[in-house]
Amino acid sequence: MKIFKSYQLKDYNTFGVKVIADSFAEINSAEDLIELLSSGVSSEILVLGSGSNILFRDSFVHTLVLKINIKGIKIIDENAYSVLIEAKSGEKWDDLVKYCVQRNYGGIENLSLIPGNVGAAPIQNIGAYGQELKDVFESLTAVRLDDGTKIHLTNEECKFDYRDSIFKRDLKNQVAITSVRLRLNKNPITNKNYGTINEELINCGIKNPTIKDISNVIRKIRTEKLPDPVKIGNAGSFFKNPVVDLKTFEMIKSKFTDLTSFKLEENKVKISAAWLIEKSGLKDFRVGNVGTYSKQPLVIVNYGNATGKEILSIAELIKQNVKKNFEVDLETEVNII
Ligand code: FAD
Ligand code: EPU
Repeated sequence: MKIFKSYQLKDYNTFGVKVIADSFAEINSAEDLIELLSSGVSSEILVLGSGSNILFRDSFVHTLVLKINIKGIKIIDENAYSVLIEAKSGEKWDDLVKYCVQRNYGGIENLSLIPGNVGAAPIQNIGAYGQELKDVFESLTAVRLDDGTKIHLTNEECKFDYRDSIFKRDLKNQVAITSVRLRLNKNPITNKNYGTINEELINCGIKNPTIKDISNVIRKIRTEKLPDPVKIGNAGSFFKNPVVDLKTFEMIKSKFTDLTSFKLEENKVKISAAWLIEKSGLKDFRVGNVGTYSKQPLVIVNYGNATGKEILSIAELIKQNVKKNFEVDLETEVNII
């Protein structure tokens, strides 16, 4: 394995921010990873997938960056109803979705076109259009960064929640995930109730959609709504949708009847961060190289050669305005390095 010194990461993060890593290596197998880690690495380590959910705050990162490229998708077990699939962490998430949709294995079709790699999917329990990874996740294998030992975690042990898991808490920066196992349905039940999925299906004249139809419709919606990181730097939603108590929700709703929200259990309500930002007058807002996307203000975009600092200062301004206008704290979804 070749370790590069002073390595430029501009092409390894979808914000397209220029940042030099102290050192950098590509990992092509779990064995190489274990060998490297068990021999003892003196510097801090940053495990990198496709860089679609990170923001580098400075122009240097004083770590060894390990870009995970471990490949492979295989069926581990199947019966009449379900199939257990193992995907290695360096596979593109959307390639796994395509693999499953082609074979009519249901459960991740609503997660079509999410950028990034399989190994990062458990970190924030990726979700979209009414599905979350945790709904089909069985287990994963990872390697501890401090000594190279292998660990195995079940769904419950990963402590998944909305855009959250043990890997953002107790195990933050402690492990490199090497493979993930998902249990998918061989007799899929389509999930078409979120947002405009149903409307789009009707427009296409589809009455009884297959999971391929659902996947196609979601690809269309996402392509129309979200900026393509190849053309314009971004990392998807910059903040989480805030979860507030009933009292705060009713206070905002009494002033703004069009507030978009989703009722959760225990007197909690998830409200739309995009709505809060738009109502704060910060949709399609731009300062120099950085702005909020014209069709979705929850996405911060890099129009040119923005630095991590410039992006963070817009994020801070958004947070302050939302706090001032609605008394709501926005929490960052993107991992700030
Ligand atoms: P990276 O950005 O490389 O890493 C993210 C974090 O995971 C970092 O902390 C990193 O250290 C850690 N990590 C990465 N790989 C591993 C590993 N193998 N082991 C341990 N830690 C690891 N997300 C959603 O949930 N839903 C969406 O709908 C969605 N839409 C998006 C749309 C766009 C246009 C963009 C740019 C992003 C979107 N995202 C969405 C966010 C992003 O795609 C996901 O978070 C994705 O899982 C990140 O994968 P990655 O490989 O790029 O991770
Ligand atoms: N909205 C506005 N103004 C806008 C856009 C949206 O007010 O310009 C309001 C609308 O009321 C809309 C609501 O926000 O109904 C929700 O918008 P959208 O359906 O685009 O979803 P979101 O809540 O903003 C979340 C995820 C996305 C995921 C979509 C679809 C979070 C933080 N983001 O966005 O995930 O793709 O739902 O399920 O939960 C990501 O995590 O990076 C990401 C893109």
